[in-house]
Amino acid sequence: MITVTINGKKIALNKPVTILEAARKADIYIPTLCNHPMLEPFGGCRLCLVEIEKMPKLQASCTQYVTDGMTVWTETEKVLEARRAMLEFLLINHPLDCPYCDKAGECDLQDSTMQCGPAIGRFKEGKRKLPECYDDPIIVTNMERCILCSRCVRMCSDVQGAHAITITNRGSKSCVEPFSGGRFDCEYCGNCITVCPVGSLMSRLHKHTYRPWYIEKEIETVCSFCGVGCSFVAQIRGDSIVRVEPRPDLGLNKGLLCVKGRFGFDYTASPSRLKSPLLQKNGDLKQTTWAEALSHTAGKLKEIKEKYGPAAIGAVASGLCTNEDNYTLQRFMRSVVGSNNIDSTTGFFYGPAQRFLEDIFGQGVTLNPMQGIANSDGVFVIGADPSAVAPVLGLQVRAASRKGIPVVTVGHMPGLKRFATCSLVPDAFSEPALLNRLISGLMKKRPVCGENEFFEGAIKKFMLSTGDDIADPCGLSNNDIERAVNELDLMTNPAVLIGRQVVQRSDASVLLLQLSVLTYLLNGRIYLISELPNDQGLVDMGCRPDMLPGGRPVFSDSMRKRYEDSYGSEIPSAQGMSLMEMIQAAHEGNLKALYVMGENLLPDLPDTGYVKEALSKLELLVVQDTLMNETAELAHVVLPACSWPEAEGSYTNFEGRMQHVRKAVHGEAMEGWKIISEVAKIIGSDFGFLTVVDILAELTKVSPIHKGITYAEMDGGKCLWPYNGEPLRDSAKDFALPDITLLKRAKDCGRPYLFADQQLFHSGTIGRNSSALSMLMPASYVKVGNALSEKKSIQAGDVAGIASGIKSAELDVIIDPDLKGMMVLIPNILADKGVMSFMKWNMNPDFKNPALDGNEIEISKLRSKAEEVSA
Ligand code: SF4
Ligand code: SF4
Ligand code: SF4
Ligand code: FES
Repeated sequence: MITVTINGKKIALNKPVTILEAARKADIYIPTLCNHPMLEPFGGCRLCLVEIEKMPKLQASCTQYVTDGMTVWTETEKVLEARRAMLEFLLINHPLDCPYCDKAGECDLQDSTMQCGPAIGRFKEGKRKLPECYDDPIIVTNMERCILCSRCVRMCSDVQGAHAITITNRGSKSCVEPFSGGRFDCEYCGNCITVCPVGSLMSRLHKHTYRPWYIEKEIETVCSFCGVGCSFVAQIRGDSIVRVEPRPDLGLNKGLLCVKGRFGFDYTASPSRLKSPLLQKNGDLKQTTWAEALSHTAGKLKEIKEKYGPAAIGAVASGLCTNEDNYTLQRFMRSVVGSNNIDSTTGFFYGPAQRFLEDIFGQGVTLNPMQGIANSDGVFVIGADPSAVAPVLGLQVRAASRKGIPVVTVGHMPGLKRFATCSLVPDAFSEPALLNRLISGLMKKRPVCGENEFFEGAIKKFMLSTGDDIADPCGLSNNDIERAVNELDLMTNPAVLIGRQVVQRSDASVLLLQLSVLTYLLNGRIYLISELPNDQGLVDMGCRPDMLPGGRPVFSDSMRKRYEDSYGSEIPSAQGMSLMEMIQAAHEGNLKALYVMGENLLPDLPDTGYVKEALSKLELLVVQDTLMNETAELAHVVLPACSWPEAEGSYTNFEGRMQHVRKAVHGEAMEGWKIISEVAKIIGSDFGFLTVVDILAELTKVSPIHKGITYAEMDGGKCLWPYNGEPLRDSAKDFALPDITLLKRAKDCGRPYLFADQQLFHSGTIGRNSSALSMLMPASYVKVGNALSEKKSIQAGDVAGIASGIKSAELDVIIDPDLKGMMVLIPNILADKGVMSFMKWNMNPDFKNPALDGNEIEISKLRSKAEEVSA
């Protein structure tokens, strides 16, 4: 125990902390400027000076640690004089433009000066003049106001890892500048704006739109973009969100956000926002009343069920919708329609991957705390670049790397390029060969340990090739692979991060099995890189064709009975159709009605033309969504649902953390769960849901894992897996192991291969509807590497023709020197030129999801940009 006395007050501490931290614990105020809770102590501004007995000079309290028996004074005349002097010094060059500056009212310099600064400054010389800089579309800089605390630079380098800005020049000419010049050209996380204590770095999007004291309310809520589930405070004025503010003491993101969470929320105010129901009449969608839209939907569903049976109806849930919406949709499908035909795009990756891994290791194996990544002793990443699709999760990997922990990545991962200690980029689709070699290399160093006899028995059945007979099985040298094995061998409890690309391919089960073996050998923890805010919740709510709420298999009689008793109706024991099976069935005329909630199927499913044909054959297509989109344009009924800030509910993030999504603004549409409940009521089934509390109450009654959960528990941040539920499914003793003895030797086909480019600045339909995100990435593009660029004589800035057999388009070319071989990347930014529209697919027989391998593509130069401009 350490005891320190500050201003006569004795403070007992059980570990050494800085004087500043000790003072704050005891509610003693010390002004600071360069210090910030998200950054390491810096000791640059000297505003936090204090007097310590037996020390001749004043000390910076933010860097000086307490010692037992230390006596500190924070308000002596010497200290106050030093503070006045420091503030007077800082104000020599700081303009007195508080009435104009957006930071006024929440400015640390203004507050400190008011509290302890000099009444007047003695310097009469002219102040430095620097114009406000509007070169960047998102960040506006005003370097006259900069006090050179370096908080922004430290945030950008030490936490964000982007190294995009620095302090240039010396003395009074010093200022903060992006390395790239006027435009920031960075990751646009805005975390530098969060930490800037003055009005030097500000969001251009919010400039002069309000004053801090005009904020009418602040609502704590959760981001709606990805599966990390960052928390922030939505600041409301006049029933609209003017800004979102992360806070260091809030949620798992602890003050950090990414570009999507910070700037993308304006999609909720997009002109495409649906506000009233639409009904198709004579081929056109016409505005109608809620009563007509709901009774038409209910009537047609009833008619189709009676005519063709429940199996002719399907539903698409969404990882963008809340647990409450998803639970109600599955309740509707199982208890009103009587079908297990419910799935979503979460079924393309997250759902089947989790089911496969849980069958091996038991339920909840992928639900691990995010902080465990930075605190592990190794990280292995495959299948997605977390820095692009779940950016704050990516920061954990970067933090691990900064600590000197080995980070091994497999695949093209620009966001982790500088952070991976070993970066393996195998030839297209040769990951199984690479993993086989990593496993066999590791097994030589670490034989199986005998802990899980069943799994180890299964592993031993495989003839894991040593790969010694294959000189170059995956486009990587023996040295590269040996180095990776050595790095892996340093790890004793690493984080294994698995992304989408591992599962959207025909050999997905082979890869997942290999990754399970690797995780087992490494004693690792698995994380699935969730791309939607409620991927996990959707699975937990039973929006899978094979799973009931709580992750209970639909074929289990005893588990089904629990739900049947509660719902008062029978649930079919057979697995329902997956999303792609439903699309196929619609194309073949066997599925007659589809209720789509929150998913824009046309741009997000492969082979847009085929999907469009399938949807056009339906007798009833209902789209319940927040934004008008390409799928809604084909619908017979469009039901406008409340968007993310307009309704109460919850999301479950990739850790299994249930978080309260609060209503922040009023909306003209109806809550998603309420729309479904109303349709059910017209058909004759009243769920009795009046508010989300009723839905949660039913869920906690029927779902064994959600027992006793309340919104209050979520609010306290305590709703963490495994909650307080009943015993869970253990590893399945009879899971079918894929045959990996027949691994094909990868061969370079020599032709360009199409992959999806994972975009930091975009996130499907909601990203497209954000003016801020669209500003950062307004157009689609095609990315190729040096090899393909040379082979096809294509340069950066050229316009290339792309043809995949089902779709052709013209796209601007970007050269990415890190792209290997014949890889071609297109993002899914624009619906009509999105990567999925070019993609052909096959049904993966194990997961019933679309396998996207085999997408060879033609690419040729059409013209150079210069020719285009002159034409
Ligand atoms: S927005 Fe983010 S990446 Fe860009 S300069 Fe600021 S901290 Fe760095
Ligand atoms: S821009 Fe802001 S955070 Fe950066 S050094 Fe200047 S005052 Fe500090
Ligand atoms: S990391 Fe994900 S949850 Fe966090 S702010 Fe970004 S998009 Fe939102
Ligand atoms: S806050 Fe301590 S030196 Fe700046």
